[in-house]
Amino acid sequence: MKTVTCTAPVNIAVIKYWGKRDEKLILPLNDSISFTLSQDEMCAKTTVSISPTFTEDKFWLNGKKESLENPRVQNCLKEIRRRASKRKFEGSDENVWSWHVHICSENNFPTAAGLASSAAGYACLVYALGQVYGVEGDLSSVARQGSGSACRSIHGGLVRWYKGEADDGSDSVARPIAPPDHFPNLRVIICVVNAGQKKTGSTVGMKQTVATSSLMQHRISVSVTSRIESMMKAIKEKDWPTFCDLTIADSNEMHAVCLDTFPPCVYMTDTSHAVASLLHKYNDLKTIESNINHKVCYTFDAGPNACIFAPEAVAEEVLALLLQAFPPPPAQATDDYVKGIPSQPATLSK
Ligand code: ADP
Ligand code: DP6
Ligand code: CO
Repeated sequence: MKTVTCTAPVNIAVIKYWGKRDEKLILPLNDSISFTLSQDEMCAKTTVSISPTFTEDKFWLNGKKESLENPRVQNCLKEIRRRASKRKFEGSDENVWSWHVHICSENNFPTAAGLASSAAGYACLVYALGQVYGVEGDLSSVARQGSGSACRSIHGGLVRWYKGEADDGSDSVARPIAPPDHFPNLRVIICVVNAGQKKTGSTVGMKQTVATSSLMQHRISVSVTSRIESMMKAIKEKDWPTFCDLTIADSNEMHAVCLDTFPPCVYMTDTSHAVASLLHKYNDLKTIESNINHKVCYTFDAGPNACIFAPEAVAEEVLALLLQAFPPPPAQATDDYVKGIPSQPATLSK
């Protein structure tokens, strides 16, 4: 028997992936850019065991047995085994690719709540499977077939997922574009507005947006394409205030196309909007003080929870403001509260 345990961190998109051109291969309509967080905070942890004596594949998620009919888990497993079957192994390990696997994964943060659990989860699964079956090389295109956003969690720091042009998805891969400390002393504050599972998962939500939103056509053909280029320039020039403005604009555009979806996908709550508005007031103040390098930015994935990037110099102040405006509830309450977790600076993590 061989056993491997891996952890993988979440990544937070600053230019969002929302919409596919190929559902089966998980090929996106646009490039996206994200920040992989330090795995000291929010991560998936996956243990995989393979043995010639196992009679079937098995999968547990957060302590609960899951069906392995899930085509995304199957796709990842098939691809890793295909790659493993091409390798030469010594002696009794020769047919290792045909051994069944037992997978046990858990997230140390809310699953399916818009905090990128599918990204950390599938990056971790694919990385662990690669280790146990002895597969080397770039695994981002395999992770992509589990969940699109997962291909970006294979790398640390700032990462760009190129949508690619090829029909078979061979050039739809994630690549690191800047190291974790590119913007030095950055802190991340995650505001958990609601830890519950979202009503419409990302996969279904983005499919409905592509099918029904006319605003989405503008996003794909005009705005997100030019925003990617502006973001690349801001990153290259270490232009923090512009990075902030573009991050906020893209989050708001993604939620605008969600609202333009029929029926609408409503992910942000009144509390989410109140958090955003507080941060705009904060940034206005920094502009008046001529301190624009102390601006902060927010972004919301497909859920109500805010991810805030703040320079270290103001992180404590911003956290204190948030906790004052949105005091945590008594221990038993679970809805609509804000919990600040200042993260470590993002570090390269696999
Ligand atoms: P999120 O915003 O958390 O990424 P999604 O709707 O994109 O939510 O995906 C949630 C789904 O991702 C879960 O229902 C589950 O199928 C899958 N997932 C989450 N965590 C893991 C994990 N650790 N291992 C495998 N799959 C996972
Ligand atoms: C809002 O990667 O979860 O987080 O590819 O269908 O699994 P699937 O969707 P998923 O979508 C992520 C959407 C997002 C934005 C982003 O991470 O870029
Ligand atoms: Co997801």
